[in-house]
Amino acid sequence: MRAESLVSTDAQQQILAGRTLLLIVGGGVAAYKSLDLVRRLRERGARVRTVLTAAAARFVTPLSFASLSGERVFDDLFSLTDEQEMGHIRLSREADLVVVAPATAHLLARMASGQADDLATTLLLATDKRVLVAPAMNVRMWLHPATRRNIAQLRDDGVLFVGPEEGEMACGEFGPGRMSEPLAIVAAIAAALPGAGRQSLAGRHVVVTSGPTREPIDPARYLSNRSSGKQGHAIAAAAARAGARVTLVSGPVEIDDPPGVETRHVETALQMLAAVEAALPADLFIGAAAVADWRAEPAPDKIKKRPGGAPPSLVLSENPDILARVARRESARPTLVVGFAAETRDMIANAEEKLARKGCDLIVANDVSAAAGVFGGDANEVHLVGPDGVESWPRLDKSDVAARLVARLAERLSQAECAR
Ligand code: C5P
Repeated sequence: MRAESLVSTDAQQQILAGRTLLLIVGGGVAAYKSLDLVRRLRERGARVRTVLTAAAARFVTPLSFASLSGERVFDDLFSLTDEQEMGHIRLSREADLVVVAPATAHLLARMASGQADDLATTLLLATDKRVLVAPAMNVRMWLHPATRRNIAQLRDDGVLFVGPEEGEMACGEFGPGRMSEPLAIVAAIAAALPGAGRQSLAGRHVVVTSGPTREPIDPARYLSNRSSGKQGHAIAAAAARAGARVTLVSGPVEIDDPPGVETRHVETALQMLAAVEAALPADLFIGAAAVADWRAEPAPDKIKKRPGGAPPSLVLSENPDILARVARRESARPTLVVGFAAETRDMIANAEEKLARKGCDLIVANDVSAAAGVFGGDANEVHLVGPDGVESWPRLDKSDVAARLVARLAERLSQAECAR
């Protein structure tokens, strides 16, 4: 079964129904997928107004978009003839979100440099709405320093991204550059729409752990791991946007504290446990930290290297399992306890084992093998492993994973309370 087909559409439907989207189609072979995107958005009750660049109109016809969207399609001729009828400001003002799919390297470059040399780029420059782009291009173009610069600039400008995916491309090459599938774009649109699930956690207290822990060996050295904290911090930020009071217990990370979140900084697993326990009670606990399994008894002074001497041996003792402790609490157990499973093999089986052993309600499993590029990267591909099965999500930006996870947990929280 394809991952996307497992994604429930209920929440998306609620968010998308009655919304107006301005879809800008760039000139790439992936433009044909945007026809399906329009169909999927309409199925969920959204209104889609389409603008084609001149290059896009060479790949797909305006008539196809007009038929599928049930709306007039706009292209460059529009700006010359119909400006009276509907100005470009109105076109972008009436949209809840602007979506660019496919976003070619050329279109991204024009967006990054603020050009307004056709209707599409004029709309993009004139809009005051959020912009979500789904890039699609040859792998070398995607990896080119000029494109990297443009992407960094656009991210800085607040533009949101979905994809591209890695895979076989129309040009026969393999690598990142393929436009995300329509259902992944639909999910990103639902997460990006202003107000999407905004108050779904109002009145709730959410405790999140994030980042690595650092276990000292002596005053100068420590044991730690590669966790960047990006996913946990994104979850804390998304929960705050959803209206929750959020306590984030963070190990040492290089990223900023998320806005609107009360962040407690800790170093060791023992400190993390103490901070989590002090933060309870909570409605929701999300253990996204990569807690060190073991700690050393730190030497009071720096361990010296002696010429010809044997290397020191470390005596390790096991750290408490914070997740299991929270999940197995007799008093003040959060209604939902969610853990993460970073695996390099047998991901689902290991996650199922962890779910049972730790007594939590859901495990978010992800592949952290070097090939997946999750540690430190901006994207994540997760599987939600619960007592009633596994739900796999497509590869998404960590912020999109966070928004979707928060929306899903808010639903589950309400369901769990109704069932009590
Ligand atoms: O057993 P493993 O470390 O793979 O489990 C990962 C999950 O357990 C994560 O949610 C992590 O935050 C949590 N954990 C914890 N305390 C530990 C070890 C893991 O809370 N000592």
